[in-house]
Amino acid sequence: MPGPNLNSTGYIVGFATALCGVCAIFVASAAVGLKEKQEINKLLDRQEKVLKVAGLAEADEYLSSAEIKSRYEASIKARLVNLETGEYIEGEDAEAFDQRKATKDPSQSKAAPANLAQVTRVPNKGVVYQVIDDGQVKTLVLPIVGNGLWSTMYGFLALEPDANTIAGITFYEHGETPGLGGEVENPKWQALWPGRKAFDESGDVAIEVIKGNAGPPAQDPYKVDGLSGATITSRGVSATLDFWLGKTGYGPYLVRFRGPGGARSSL
Ligand SMILES: Cc1cc2nc3c(=O)[nH]c(=O)nc-3n(C[C@H](O)[C@H](O)[C@H](O)COP(=O)(O)O)c2cc1C
Repeated sequence: MPGPNLNSTGYIVGFATALCGVCAIFVASAAVGLKEKQEINKLLDRQEKVLKVAGLAEADEYLSSAEIKSRYEASIKARLVNLETGEYIEGEDAEAFDQRKATKDPSQSKAAPANLAQVTRVPNKGVVYQVIDDGQVKTLVLPIVGNGLWSTMYGFLALEPDANTIAGITFYEHGETPGLGGEVENPKWQALWPGRKAFDESGDVAIEVIKGNAGPPAQDPYKVDGLSGATITSRGVSATLDFWLGKTGYGPYLVRFRGPGGARSSL
């Protein structure tokens, strides 16, 4: 009996189809099988960023998964906040809350008013990470997101318990140009932030990235050095903070947190 004609169109199409089928099964099972691992890694990655911006790990420190988990669980409590009223939301798992996903879901978010950070939607609920020491909040970590020149920049801002003094900032995901706007992730630039003030005496957001250099925090509490050759990214950072610290973002929560009998005392 003659074998298949290896050069026939039928054989080639059949072979290619079978090969695609095998590959599709392989890729699909890998994606499904690794999904849980991916989710765990995503969570660990976020926890590591929170630890670092809160000063519970050095920026360049290597942390194993076990170290991230134990340090995080020892000192950090994630809480959900109603962004409009600034009140805590109890009875929901703040760790499992996916703020990015909620922001895209029309039933869990609303359109943002026009803003320079070009944030288009705000979630109804926001996560706040609290560093707790001896039953007291030592640091508040807020997720921030806004646009630079080319991209959406994702980061965290850490505030001291006065909900005003900046304890740290980090941008961990963005598409700005390396060496220009991409310097938002440079630990040296991020080190210029601690000790500066987010709000002025009348309670308005005052912190901004200027063009050029700022003095030390005591001299220039509301100013941070601009990123050279990246004025648009720098402006994006200022606008991002203005948005998330303002009344459409975490502003109402921060006011309650500072106030007597406010969120701070309801630990
Ligand atoms: C290839 C290329 C990449 C750039 N990337 C950025 C960037 O990431 N962020 C930014 O603000 N400006 C970037 N710029 C510069 C802007 O076009 C603009 O000139 C700059 O923001 C002005 O900043 P300056 O006044 O500090 O020079 C880039 C320019 C070029 C040619």
